[in-house]
Amino acid sequence: MEKTALEDRVFYPSEEVVKNANITQEIYEEAKKDRLGFWKRMADELVTFFKPYEKVLDDSNPPFFRWFTGGTTNVSYNCVDRHYNSPKRNKAALCYESEIGRKVILTYRELYVEVNKFANVLKGLGVKKGDRVCLYMPMIPECAIAMLACTRIGAIHSIVFGGFSSESLADRINDATAKILITADGNFRRGTPFPLKNNADVALQSTPSIEKVVVVKNAGNEINMVEGRDLWYHDLMATADKYCPPEEMEADAPLFILYTSGSTGKPKGVQHTTAGYLTQVQATLKYVFDLKETDTFWCTADIGWITGHSYVVYGPLALGMTSFMYDGTIDYPDKDRMWDMAERWGVTVFYTAPTAIRTFMKWGTEYPKKHDLSQLRLLGTVGEPINPEAWMWYYENIGGGRCPIMDTWWQTETGGFMITPTPIIPLKPGTATIPFPGIEVDVVDENKQPTDRGYLVVKSPWPSMLMTIWGDDNRYIDQYWKRFGDMYFAGDGAKRDEMGYIWVTGRVDDVLNVSGHRLGTAEIESALVECEEVAEAAVIGKKHDVKGEAPCAFVILKDGFTGSPELVDKLKKHVGVKIGPIARPDDIIFTASLPKTRSGKIMRRLLRDIAEGRALGDVTTLADPGAMQEIAAQYAGKED
Ligand code: WTA
Repeated sequence: MEKTALEDRVFYPSEEVVKNANITQEIYEEAKKDRLGFWKRMADELVTFFKPYEKVLDDSNPPFFRWFTGGTTNVSYNCVDRHYNSPKRNKAALCYESEIGRKVILTYRELYVEVNKFANVLKGLGVKKGDRVCLYMPMIPECAIAMLACTRIGAIHSIVFGGFSSESLADRINDATAKILITADGNFRRGTPFPLKNNADVALQSTPSIEKVVVVKNAGNEINMVEGRDLWYHDLMATADKYCPPEEMEADAPLFILYTSGSTGKPKGVQHTTAGYLTQVQATLKYVFDLKETDTFWCTADIGWITGHSYVVYGPLALGMTSFMYDGTIDYPDKDRMWDMAERWGVTVFYTAPTAIRTFMKWGTEYPKKHDLSQLRLLGTVGEPINPEAWMWYYENIGGGRCPIMDTWWQTETGGFMITPTPIIPLKPGTATIPFPGIEVDVVDENKQPTDRGYLVVKSPWPSMLMTIWGDDNRYIDQYWKRFGDMYFAGDGAKRDEMGYIWVTGRVDDVLNVSGHRLGTAEIESALVECEEVAEAAVIGKKHDVKGEAPCAFVILKDGFTGSPELVDKLKKHVGVKIGPIARPDDIIFTASLPKTRSGKIMRRLLRDIAEGRALGDVTTLADPGAMQEIAAQYAGKED
C-alpha cells in the first residue's frame, strides 16, 4: 500500500463540534443499511413536492437514471416561496458586496418579489417551459434572480462564466440554441469596469437563436444598446407584475445546462435535473457545512461554475440560509479584502479553492491577522487536491486552529458533494476522506477490480447526477459509462490509505485543472492550430505553485515559420482571446516533433516529465524515441 508522508497527522473533531453537528454517526449507518431509504428521507424532509413521487429511483434504463419519478415540484418555489410566509421572511437571503463597495441585502421576501417579477419579464419576452436562456453575468444578485426566475417558469438556464471569451460564449449559446441572453454592462475588476456587454456583442454576431438581450446596469460603463434587441433590466422590471405562478415541473425535468471541458475540443453541456439535484445540494450543505439558522455562508466560487450554482444559490436558498456573494478581485484595494469582508459580514462558514489559499499563503499571514476572524467556525475547499502545506496554513491562519476543513470532492457532473468529510469525521490534510452518506465510490484498476491506487468510480446512481450531455446521449454514455461498465468513471485517479480514506490525485484524462477551472487540452490545442504558423500542438498541465497546474504548449511550426518571442506572445494572446484568459499557456515550446505512441496518441506523460524537469520516463512505446531527446534539449534551451 502507498504510504503517504502525512498519514499520521490526524485531526479529531472536538466534543463540542460533534455534539452540535447536524450529522450523526447514525445517519452514516442508516444510509449504509438502506441507501435509497436515506435519500427518500432526505427528499421528504428537504423538498416540497406538488405531487408526490412514485419511485425514489427508476433504474430501468441505465445509464439514464431518474430520481423521484412521478413527482412534481418547482425549484424557485423551494428557494423562495417556502420562506416567504415563514419566520424567515425578513431574514437576509443574499448579501452582496461589489468591488467598489456597493452593498445589497435581499431578504427572502424581497428576493421572492424580484424573482416573480423577472419570471414575468421572461414570460413577456416569449420564454416558455423548456426554452434555453443564457446568462453571461457578473456575481451580482440579478444573476441569482435570473436563475431562479428561469426555474420558476421551467426555462433551462445555461450560465457562461464571465471570464470566457466571446467565441466561447457564442459556441455555448449555439450549442444550446438559447433564445435570450442576460448580461450586464460590465463589472469592476481592480477598479476598472470589465466590458462584459462588449464581449457579448461580439458573440451576438454569430448567434442566430438569440431574440432578445436583457442588460443589467451594473458598472455604468458605456455600451451600445441595439434597438429592438437589447433591453434594460430595470426598464423591464419597472412594469413587471409581482406574482408569477411557479410552473409545475416533473421531478426529472431538465433544470439547467452547464458547459464543462472534456477530453475533446467541444465543451460538454452537462444537463442537470430538478428534484434529485435539489435533494442532494441541500443534504450535503446541511450535513457537511453544518449550516444553522444563524450562519452566514460564504462560498467564494463564481456563479458561472457548478460550485456557484449549487452552493451560492440553490443549496443555501432552498435551506433558507444566508448566502454572501462578492463580485471583485481578491486583492483590491489590498490583499486583506477577503478577511475584511469576512469580518464585516460576520461570515461563519467559508468555502474556497486551494489555488486561492496558496495565493493567500504567498501574501503572508499579516493580512488575515489584521482582522477578527473569530466568527468563523467551519472551512471548506474544492476544485483540486489541496496540498497538505496549504491545508495546514488554512487551518492555522484562517481557522485559528479550531475550524474543521471540509475538503469536498465533486464535479460539474455530480452536481453536489460526493467524497467529503463532515464535522464529525477525523481529518487528514490533503484527503477528501470518505463518501457522503448514500454515495458509493470505489478505486479500481483497469479490470474494474478494487485496488489501493487506480481510477475513481461511482458505483451507484446518486440524486444530483447529470442526466445526460445536452443533445448528445451517446457522448454521455461514452464519456462516463463505457470504461468501467456499470460504474460511473469520474476521470480522476485516486489512492486509498489504511484508514480507507480516498486521496484524489488529479485527472487521468486530457483535462487540465488550472486554478480549479477545468480546461480540455484539446480545446487549447485546437485554438493553437488555428494560427497560420502552427502545424501541430500538444498541451499539458505543468505543476504550478499557485494555480495547481499551468497550461504548457509544445508546438510544431509549419515549414517556413520560425519560433520567436513575438510568436510566443501572439500564440498566447490568441488562446486568451479564443477561450479566455485562464487558458493562456504559461510556456510555449517550439519543437520539431512530438512524442507519439505507435497508434499516434500523443504521450503527454513524457511532455509533462520534460516540462517539470524530470528525467525522461519510459519511452519504449514511442514511435520515435529520438524525438524525446530533441524536445528535451529544446526545452532546456528555452529556460536558459
Ligand atoms: C477536481 C468542481 C481533489 C477533480 C466542483 C474533479 C478535486 C474536477 C476536488 C471537477 C477535491 C474537485 N480534491 N480534486 N476536493 N474537487 N476536484 O467540474 O479533478 O469544475 O474531477 O467541479 O476537479 O471539476 P469541476
